[in-house]
Amino acid sequence: MSLLGLPPVIGHRGLASAAPENTLAGFREAKRRGLEWVELDVQLTSDGQPVVFHDDELDRTTDGHGRLADTPWDVVRHLDAASWFGWPAEPVPHLAEALEVISGLGLGVNIEIKADETAGAATAAAALDLAVGLWSGRAPPLLSSFAESALAEAARRAPDWPRGLLLGGVWGQGPGRARALGCAGLHADHRLLTAARVSAARELGLAVLAYTVNRIDRARRLWGWGVEAVFSDRTFKFEMPV
Ligand code: G3P
Ligand code: MG
Repeated sequence: MSLLGLPPVIGHRGLASAAPENTLAGFREAKRRGLEWVELDVQLTSDGQPVVFHDDELDRTTDGHGRLADTPWDVVRHLDAASWFGWPAEPVPHLAEALEVISGLGLGVNIEIKADETAGAATAAAALDLAVGLWSGRAPPLLSSFAESALAEAARRAPDWPRGLLLGGVWGQGPGRARALGCAGLHADHRLLTAARVSAARELGLAVLAYTVNRIDRARRLWGWGVEAVFSDRTFKFEMPV
């Protein structure tokens, strides 16, 4: 049973196997290939602008160098985030541009607030003050973070938007922490999941989402355990459950 009304597959960073990650071209490609929802990562530039970007460093996915957090928007906006992938040049999107394109495409979106605990509140505040004012899509965005400080701030800035706690290396007290933060779900590394853990989380009323799942046999097993959606770099377009 679906708790959050999500499709079984959410495109990871847009659709990272098919298009440059976290770019407007990537969101368009996800739509073209039939996905209904995408995930993106948001971080702040040195001057506090929320941009759609995954790594700490600019080097892997752009023609820039150094830390995003040390680089102002006026520099970031001129970087090329697609040539490394063999695609025509694409900018690093500002969150405002990304949300405009995504809502225009009719896609749903999971906004991952990517920050450590120290930067979590400021990142969530900047991202959500912007997103709440301009989002015009049908379903409200799903917000997520590894940082509890970001989720607490998200609850203040966008109290009606659902939130998910991201879990990485350890399961630990994940379900209890998610409940204490008022989260609707847990977004876990799929390698942490077992049938029993998914059941336990669901018994607490939490939706379980799993990242990053790029094999259809693994996705089928997770769906079978009650995982509501998998984040994937692939679409599994012809292989989803009916
Ligand atoms: O939100 C799910 C997933 O994106 C978390 O990991 O590192 O790919 O942002 P990462
Ligand atoms: Mg992410």
